[in-house]
Amino acid sequence: MSPVSDSTNRVIPGPQETEEKIYHPSDGLFTDAHVPDFDAYLAIYKKSTEEPEEFWADVAQEFYWKKPPSGQMLQYNFDVNKGNIYIKFMEGAKTNICYNVLDRNVHERNLGEKVAYYWEGNSPTHHQTITYIQLLRSVCRCANALKLLGVKKGDRVAIYLPMIPELVYTMLACARIGAVHSIVFAGFSSESLCERIMDAQCNILVTADGVYRGDKLINLKKIASEALERCKESMDLCVQKCVVVRHHAFRTNSDASNKLQTPWDESCDIWWDDLMEGVSDECEPEWMDSEDPLFILYTSGSTGKPKGVVHTVTGYMLYTSLTFKYVFDYHHDDVYWCTADIGWITGHSYITYGPLANSATSVLFEGVPVYPHVGRLWEIIEKYGVSKFYTAPTAIRLLMKYGREPLQRFDLSSLRVLGTVGEPINPEAWLWYYDVVGQQRCPVIDTFWQTETGGHVLTPLPAATPLKPGSATCPFFGVQPAILNEHGEELEGEAEGYLVFRKPWPGIMRGVYGNQERFESTYFRKFPGFYVTGDGCRRDKDGYYWITGRIDDMLNVSGHLLSTAEVEAALTEHPSVAEAAVVSRPHTVKGECLYCFVTLKDHKEFNRTLMEELKRKVREKIGPIATPDFIQNAPGLPKTRSGKIMRRVLRQIARNEKDLGDLSTLADPKVVEVLFSQRCEAAA
Ligand code: WTA
Repeated sequence: MSPVSDSTNRVIPGPQETEEKIYHPSDGLFTDAHVPDFDAYLAIYKKSTEEPEEFWADVAQEFYWKKPPSGQMLQYNFDVNKGNIYIKFMEGAKTNICYNVLDRNVHERNLGEKVAYYWEGNSPTHHQTITYIQLLRSVCRCANALKLLGVKKGDRVAIYLPMIPELVYTMLACARIGAVHSIVFAGFSSESLCERIMDAQCNILVTADGVYRGDKLINLKKIASEALERCKESMDLCVQKCVVVRHHAFRTNSDASNKLQTPWDESCDIWWDDLMEGVSDECEPEWMDSEDPLFILYTSGSTGKPKGVVHTVTGYMLYTSLTFKYVFDYHHDDVYWCTADIGWITGHSYITYGPLANSATSVLFEGVPVYPHVGRLWEIIEKYGVSKFYTAPTAIRLLMKYGREPLQRFDLSSLRVLGTVGEPINPEAWLWYYDVVGQQRCPVIDTFWQTETGGHVLTPLPAATPLKPGSATCPFFGVQPAILNEHGEELEGEAEGYLVFRKPWPGIMRGVYGNQERFESTYFRKFPGFYVTGDGCRRDKDGYYWITGRIDDMLNVSGHLLSTAEVEAALTEHPSVAEAAVVSRPHTVKGECLYCFVTLKDHKEFNRTLMEELKRKVREKIGPIATPDFIQNAPGLPKTRSGKIMRRVLRQIARNEKDLGDLSTLADPKVVEVLFSQRCEAAA
């Protein structure tokens, strides 16, 4: 990095000489970096914010347009006092994202034989190599099959699949024909799946017979069928056809397939293989308007009902492509691996769309980090020569527990860049990632973003940004963060408060599906003129951003956002429960875990059986990720005189923090003592 001399003119001051340890990119590791140093970053950042129209027009030139962009690049309103909130990017231009990420690699760049994915199954004996031309053909076949089922532009298709190639084929097939995909993570329960299918009124569901996660068998089709039953019960069955992929694991292994339960409804269910038979592998893309919807992805909402975040074609395409290129400093000989599931936004943006737009070669991994042994991730890095690796703090903390030995068995010298996402990374995990995985050679790129932002918004760039463990550092191109206090006043310089953004970038969400009111009230009403992330944030003297965690009623378990309200709703469905309040408590691997207080109805007994039933209830309603670690019997809850539960106090009880501060607003302060005396020490 060059010395900082002109900090007065800088948008972002950049790190000065200081006592705190700053990590600089290794010499010689990035000789051909897209952004070679911090000054280069600042110069591009300046252009992106001062001349956004020109900046994004240049980026758009990299793509194919059926009808070229003309007129205004960006139109928006972020101020609820000035009318509806909207964001439009290159409206009127026509393109197709599937065409851009596949056909152009095959036909224009001559990369048909390049590997798009190395698929690595849950079992190390299952793997497959998929080139760009093969991917294109499979996607076209699937697109034609969906058309045969009557799927048209604008229709919603629900996808409930494990991490198998068919998941990528289906999502891209939707994008090709202009259908809107709604992918539901295959760890969600039948109830969560049903809720999402109904909210988006999907008419097709694509799922699989089953899947192994580690050594655990999951009867996916059974869960999917239960979900469709539920939809039927609420008289709201929109799904006409359910396409079922026969998973690799059950094709040849009769032992495994005997354990599988695959309920079948002749009028609705159809095997993927039967559907694809004889279908052509060529399919003309549907030319979409820039602002046509591309997908819906549900994320937890603080009211308990998930929100369908909507992304549109062009903005998302440009943004995921650009962030992928710069944030991982992607080059054509790289092998890139993101361990996320495509059921979350990280997989959408950085397994499917971003990497393919850059003609990347990626690993697509179905398994879990510790199966069949705790060195599985390191083994895969060696096997494929992975150079860019992207995972979550929770996985790093899990693997830290096994020490260095499992890594020493494998050659990790191919690694160049290590990324993390999902939650704030504690410095201890950061340093372990840096020292032990990256062998002090690779920068750790802590990327802050959300389902709503579409792509990275605060992030270092590998060769350019000096690193501080635990900081997501600086804004990406086009992104303008600000920090506000409780009164909505903007804070300058070193400060801590609400993280907001003052202008849209192309990848930002366009709305909540079918609910403009919720879109505006969740993200724009608190501070008119800004997009509100819901995260707290500190900016240090160098202009670096440090995410301090959620400041609403959300919690982050293993990098997955949950709302306290949705877990409370599950608990209070149990006939013995009168009231429930859920807070987070720190957890060494998951980051945060659920600590639940339940007040029982009169004469009901709190015992082990009840605890097990409550846990099952939450798993069934939401999914295994939401399983509570602690359940405490609460004869009463700390409430204000107006009846509002004081969560701050519950959080302190869960964390055993005795200094409770001002309790004068409590209706009955004695309840706090009782709860303290009965708090759970060990997980349930
Ligand atoms: C949290 C995941 C700190 C944050 C891409 C955010 C992070 C929420 C980071 C979004 C990070 C994500 N540092 N916190 N690097 N990345 N978060 O929608 O609270 O699943 O608002 O998107 O995760 O989670 P989501």
